[in-house]
Amino acid sequence: MNRRTAISQTPSERVSVSLGQRSYEILIEPDALRARELREACAGRGCLLVTDQTVGALYAERILAGLDLPSSHCLSLPPGEQHKHLGSFETIVTRMAELGLRRDGCLIALGGGVVGDLAGFAAAAYMRGVDFVQCPTTLLAMVDSSVGGKTGLNLPSGKNLVGAFWQPQLVLADIEVLSTLSDREYRAGLAEVIKYAAIGDAGFFDWLEQQVEQINARDTQTIAQMVAISCRHKAAIVARDEREAGERALLNFGHTFGHALEAGTDYRTLLHGEAVAIGMLQAARLSSAMGMAPQQDAERLSQLLRAVKLPVDPPRLPLQRLHHHLALDKKAVAGGLKFILWRGIGQAEIVRGVDQRALDAVLQSQQ
Ligand code: NAD
Ligand code: GLY
Repeated sequence: MNRRTAISQTPSERVSVSLGQRSYEILIEPDALRARELREACAGRGCLLVTDQTVGALYAERILAGLDLPSSHCLSLPPGEQHKHLGSFETIVTRMAELGLRRDGCLIALGGGVVGDLAGFAAAAYMRGVDFVQCPTTLLAMVDSSVGGKTGLNLPSGKNLVGAFWQPQLVLADIEVLSTLSDREYRAGLAEVIKYAAIGDAGFFDWLEQQVEQINARDTQTIAQMVAISCRHKAAIVARDEREAGERALLNFGHTFGHALEAGTDYRTLLHGEAVAIGMLQAARLSSAMGMAPQQDAERLSQLLRAVKLPVDPPRLPLQRLHHHLALDKKAVAGGLKFILWRGIGQAEIVRGVDQRALDAVLQSQQ
């Protein structure tokens, strides 16, 4: 599926996710939070805005004012992954019931992937499903979590163990809100952008290499283009494989390794995108070690990750611990682990069963 994207100069973009009656639009533009489309989506029905306290303090008022909603229709949860749990889900659905939302009600998720996943799952479950709008405010949420309908929450025994596929009705990616995002969170989102290039678009990879200066300067136009291209890739894959029966698994490039690193460090050391960056390089190196891909492509990936200041060195962890977490990964299937490897830049593929010695060498090596 290696493609070569034509890079346009348009600052405002629309991407369609084609899923029959559940199709929707992604609007990528400055001031998208005040878009007419949001007012239309919410007109004449009960709405609840779900956000976190950090994002809510910055941007909730824009949406509430635009929709003429009182503050009681805004629920601000404490920020952070540690709050993506059943208690927060209960808080959301309880508020929906208190406000008297009916089956024609609508949730608006304003925040990063944590808020999007939680609110999306509440929308999927409340009265067996109501509409929801995603307003992603992190780069990671704009290019990944707000698109494609995966929603859910964590249990003490594991990440994202409860969830549902539930597509939003609309996605509004307001590029301007990224100006308040921390540098570290911004870079973590870049890992997912690089992932789309790595798995299926060598031309996009070339372009990212050429744009490093603008990417590091957080140039708005460059960011808008990265978000649009990433969303187009995700939309196309989701349209072909909504429930991850096949191709959608390619989006997990670097994630099997990354999840093992995150879990192995008790989710305290690495942001998800940072773990994915290291994991993608491990997947590329394993592909080279197994004779599937040229070593130079792994080196190019390493250089791009370093150029945008993402980590490439895995934290030192005992091999046994990594094996344990790899085996627990949701992508483990009967008969062995399913890895997403590549034949080179832009050509990812699903591989069942990998060379154990090569795997251990990659797990133990520092770049
Ligand atoms: P996050 O939602 O925790 O946001 C990161 C931090 O940035 C938070 O503290 C938040 O308050 C703050 N923040 C968000 N937007 C801001 C802004 N514009 N200005 C200032 N601060 C801002 O983290 P995330 O990286 O967006 O999402 C991670 C979550 O996404 C994980 O739970 C992961 O499992 C999930 N995820 C889901 C999917 C999916 O397909 N559903 C895909 C990838 C990741
Ligand atoms: N984030 C991977 C997926 O949506 O499938």
